[in-house]
Amino acid sequence: MTANVVVIGSLNMDLVTRAPRLPRGGETLIGHSFATVSGGKGANQAVAAARLGARVSMVGCVGSDDYGVQLRDALKAEQIDCQAVSAVEGSSGVALIVVDDDSQNAIVIVAGANGALTPAVVERFDAVLQGADVVICQLEIPDATVGHALKRARALGKTVILNPAPASRPLPADWFAAIDYLIPNESEAAALSGVTVDSLQTAENAATQLIAMGAGKVIVTLGAQGSLFANGTGFEHFPAPAVKAVDTTAAGDTFVGGFAAALASGKSEAEAIRYGQIAAALSVTRAGAQPSIPTMSEVQAFKLA
Ligand code: RIB
Repeated sequence: MTANVVVIGSLNMDLVTRAPRLPRGGETLIGHSFATVSGGKGANQAVAAARLGARVSMVGCVGSDDYGVQLRDALKAEQIDCQAVSAVEGSSGVALIVVDDDSQNAIVIVAGANGALTPAVVERFDAVLQGADVVICQLEIPDATVGHALKRARALGKTVILNPAPASRPLPADWFAAIDYLIPNESEAAALSGVTVDSLQTAENAATQLIAMGAGKVIVTLGAQGSLFANGTGFEHFPAPAVKAVDTTAAGDTFVGGFAAALASGKSEAEAIRYGQIAAALSVTRAGAQPSIPTMSEVQAFKLA
């Protein structure tokens, strides 16, 4: 069965510089290379879910510039339904990304057209939401839109995933009851829960806190340490496959999209987490956001290796 995943979120053009290290304040560094790459957490998760087996629709906004055309075309090339990707006057979202020789990155985003994705726009495409099995949101669009989308998806009885990225503060309390799976990384789990996350134990503490706030289940992604699943009655740690990282940009997005596609197709939570982890591990071995996301057959081949 091919399941329907709907992603409500951002599309950004990534302006990516590779440099020996991340620059300090006031410093000018000589970089190795520059590329423009399609990205944005929402669009990356849509591409991941599509390459990893789901039928995907995207709800979002691009600008009236060339980037807007390129971002939309990149999704269409993955057979992603873009009827709910609207072009609005002005600039598309952009992300300024520096990746260093240790494959760490620093990112500054400018919302641009992503800021035009209002609750009213989501309402206009309610039929798209109605066709979903799984709905995914992130935090690169206005908070009011995320809150609206989560609650509408819950009211329609969909499986609801929130990847709270980027997060620097607690979530509105009235969102939690609408969330089936909350998927933060360590720093997001800390920002949301108030618990410093620097170990498996502290990830468990943060997840416990987030479930007490009302989230259904929590998956804290821990980079090379894998991920921690919590469902309110216990925890399970899923170690990550070991790979040589080239660029970690969009690894979290690949996990979320892969997890959603697998879950929507009827796989168990544990299978979906392992599937998402293999996809994310493969993505960090390649440069860029959307170009780094593997296909289902690559993930299956990795399993056999
Ligand atoms: O998660 C990676 C993404 O974050 C990049 O593609 C960039 O656009 C930012 O949104």
